[in-house]
Amino acid sequence: MNPRLSVNDTVFASATRAEHDVLQRQREAFLSDTSAVALLDAMPGAAMILNRHRQVLLANKLLRETIDPADSEHVMGMRPGELLHCVRACERPGGCGTTHACSQCGAVGAVLECLSTHKRITRECRIRTAGAVDGGALDLRVHATWLAIHEHEYVVVAVEDISSEKRRAVLERTFFHDLLNTVGGVQRLAELLDNEHPDPEVELTWKHEMTRLSTLAVDQIMSQRQILAAERGELGLQVDCVDLTELLEAQVVLFRRHPVGERRRIELDCTRTGVLHTDPSLLARVVSNLLKNALKATPEGGMVSVSAELDAGELTLSVHNEGVIPQPIQLQIFQRSFSTKGGDGRGVGTYSVKLLTERYLKGDVQFVSNDRLGTLFVIVVPDLDRKEHRLAA
Ligand SMILES: Nc1ncnc2c1ncn2[C@@H]1O[C@H](COP(=O)(O)OP(=O)(O)OP(=O)(O)O)[C@@H](O)[C@H]1O
Ligand SMILES: [Mg+2]
Repeated sequence: MNPRLSVNDTVFASATRAEHDVLQRQREAFLSDTSAVALLDAMPGAAMILNRHRQVLLANKLLRETIDPADSEHVMGMRPGELLHCVRACERPGGCGTTHACSQCGAVGAVLECLSTHKRITRECRIRTAGAVDGGALDLRVHATWLAIHEHEYVVVAVEDISSEKRRAVLERTFFHDLLNTVGGVQRLAELLDNEHPDPEVELTWKHEMTRLSTLAVDQIMSQRQILAAERGELGLQVDCVDLTELLEAQVVLFRRHPVGERRRIELDCTRTGVLHTDPSLLARVVSNLLKNALKATPEGGMVSVSAELDAGELTLSVHNEGVIPQPIQLQIFQRSFSTKGGDGRGVGTYSVKLLTERYLKGDVQFVSNDRLGTLFVIVVPDLDRKEHRLAA
């Protein structure tokens, strides 16, 4: 956090907060309406009452039960993101709602629009929270409703956890769409191979294609299994001595034959690599997600560059593509379920890169995207055989 910023600094929503005695009066005015309080506790999901500074005055019973006990005494005056431990809420002294990224947050957006229109506003919101096993990703649907009691105005915020809905959408996409496509391809090739082709060269191509597609099908299932296990914190690390050039070349070959790699070049620079103790399957998954995104963002005839460098037992791997990611999209990279590619069930790529790299491979992932550099994703991964990582694992 920048120490020179004051608590009232903001680059998005107002940072101003009401003083404690004002909060107390606003809360008591709400509590004096016993039917409003009863309705709040009768709500089937988590709900809270905010004042016009987006500060929590009251949390309903269900929300109180889920709050970290350490926070329960200080609920009054907090903002929703602070209560939910959103990673953005502690980036600036002004707290929840005051960062650039908050401009893309559905929850802040719903509350602000509700305050200005007095209408009921519903928005989806994706947040990353600190500390949870699943990498801290929350998919929420937030309903904000304006309310006036005596001379005070309030916003009732009801929060639905739609994480399971989103996960189901991912599963459905994988099983009913991507996987069916792949298996459908295997089936067509098997039918072709049923009747001998006069040209053995053609038959050999079909066999190779069949091997490629069945490997892809297994990979699609594994990928899904890995990410679900990673989110539950149940993914076991399988550390091995990995030849990085081999691993990266295999990924590049895979994507040169993949439809997203068609008519695009992939350049690989592995001149300064060697072997690293890490989990090869997780590292391959990270590389594959980065490569797929870079290729999808690259027009026909364009190029994606991958480079890897091993220094003092640490791998720095970068994937570069031309073009700049627009600022509102940059602010949402790494959030689960955020995608510009349309259709439910997307937005797992960068989220799983972060989850697998940071939580499992004990590394770090960053990106830059601007006119000068284009788009560059960089992961730094340590050697897991080193003593400090063996102890931490
Ligand atoms: N290298 C890149 N170049 C340009 N845009 C990118 C790049 N990587 C990610 N993005 C943008 O970030 C969004 C989120 O990426 P992410 O990989 O998380 O999900 P997705 O690619 O949309 O879906 P999925 O990976 O689940 O198929 C993308 O929709 C795209 O707009
Ligand atoms: Mg992706």
